[in-house]
Amino acid sequence: MKELNFTIFMQEESFVPIRFIPMAKLPQCETVAVGLYADDKAAPPGLPKAWAEEIRRLRKLGDITGRLEEVSVLYPAGQGTSRLLLCGLGEQAKADPHRLRRVAGRAVKKAQALKAKELTWLVDSFAGPMIKPIDAVQALTGTGILAQYQYRECKTQLPAEEQTYAVRLALAGSKTQGWQPAARTAEIVAESANYARTLANRPGNRLLPADLAQAARALGRAFPKLKATVRNFAQLKRAGCGALAAVGQGSAHPPVLIELRYLAGRKNARPIALAGKGITFDSGGIDIKPAANMENMKFDMSGAAAVLGIFRAAAALRLPVNLVGVVPAAENLPSGSAARPGDVVTSLSGQTIEILNTDAEGRLVLADALTYVLRYKPAYIVDIATLTGAVVMALGHAAMAVLGNQETLVAELGLAGERSGERAWPLPLWDEYRELLKSEVADVPNMGSKPGAGTIVGAAFLEKFVGGTPWAHLDIAGTAYGEAGPIYAKGATGAGVRLVMEWLLEKARK
Ligand code: BES
Ligand code: ZN
Ligand code: ZN
Repeated sequence: MKELNFTIFMQEESFVPIRFIPMAKLPQCETVAVGLYADDKAAPPGLPKAWAEEIRRLRKLGDITGRLEEVSVLYPAGQGTSRLLLCGLGEQAKADPHRLRRVAGRAVKKAQALKAKELTWLVDSFAGPMIKPIDAVQALTGTGILAQYQYRECKTQLPAEEQTYAVRLALAGSKTQGWQPAARTAEIVAESANYARTLANRPGNRLLPADLAQAARALGRAFPKLKATVRNFAQLKRAGCGALAAVGQGSAHPPVLIELRYLAGRKNARPIALAGKGITFDSGGIDIKPAANMENMKFDMSGAAAVLGIFRAAAALRLPVNLVGVVPAAENLPSGSAARPGDVVTSLSGQTIEILNTDAEGRLVLADALTYVLRYKPAYIVDIATLTGAVVMALGHAAMAVLGNQETLVAELGLAGERSGERAWPLPLWDEYRELLKSEVADVPNMGSKPGAGTIVGAAFLEKFVGGTPWAHLDIAGTAYGEAGPIYAKGATGAGVRLVMEWLLEKARK
């Protein structure tokens, strides 16, 4: 098969450099986005008089309300600015990073539809009592990049209506000190999320376990401090990864264990370990899934994509942290060599696992990955996985679930979720759930003995492989992909990249 043109730096990077515009130059910007709160009737300060008057007039008329996610286009007369995008922000007191990002996404998509060449955010108008200007810089820049993303690798022809145009981003304000590093950070993080989206969007036949390994190696070549090593099927079996081997053994495309190291922190500081579920296609195995929507199981490596994206971002930002990452990659298919329900395998930890359901394969491959990272004596372990359909029952598509064995770590990740615009909501891990993991024949079964609490039982299983290390689990099965929305296009979202980067940036500050 023709090798796919693999890009570390996506075309999205052509948006850089982001321009910073002093207020006096605003009337020369092509397309200007202005935020308007529903309950603040004064036009944002610093606007050219004619614009402010027009906004007042249209508000009075009632055609522009500042209602959340309303985007209206104005065409100022004369030379200079071609169009204004007036963006409704809703009520001031209810503003938060999630709302701001949705508004920004809609504005970007509007600018794209209008074939704008450059979109200048009037940053201060998007700030407010609940949003600092610097946080607006982050949200507007990041969303500006996320919202333009489209996955087009597999199309040889683009119908005219599907053509999109790259819109350059600019930031205007009266006090722009400190904006440049914030914008640069947001840009790299968003591009890394888009990179993760491209990996996740690739069809199962075009992204096999070996291709994930190839992607990791390419990152290693792109960043001198980033090292990637790959263990092949024979090696990972020899090393004792019996759980990962069992999941991959039914496929003609063998599993691999990918390891990433980025050691840019203090020499003796314990690393932060990341693990990402890398099932390049999840058919369910012998416990095969129903046909409806099975194509979405190409996204079952979204956790792995997120881990690669986080390494890409950390390295590009030269983040002063020590990171180790593990991606257990496999294809879960039924065949004559596939694992059967009832099989017992020995995991890398030495614990034997009874495979009660071959479709609960994510926890199997992660079991070995979690044990594997313990050799680095990590300060924390965070795993990212499309682990359970049940998380959609619990939280729908609005948030990932976060669970773990240390309350402060779970709380930190929840907070990073709030700030990054990627919600993570805690679920409990109590003994009552742990008790559901009892096997008659092995040390542990790979599913609970009673229905219910599927997401928690999945986490309770993983907990058995972290050996008491502070650990958190992000279940992204509900957020890793979805329909087109105000920010994302249909397909992968890059779930986890922004949240974990927010958390790592905070950790690097300390
Ligand atoms: N990859 C699936 C989880 C999933 C479901 C991700 C829907 C995205 C959307 C996972 O491997 C799986 O099949 N889990 C089972 C576990 C069960 C058999 C214990 C599930 O959630 O039903
Ligand atoms: Zn499965
Ligand atoms: Zn799966």
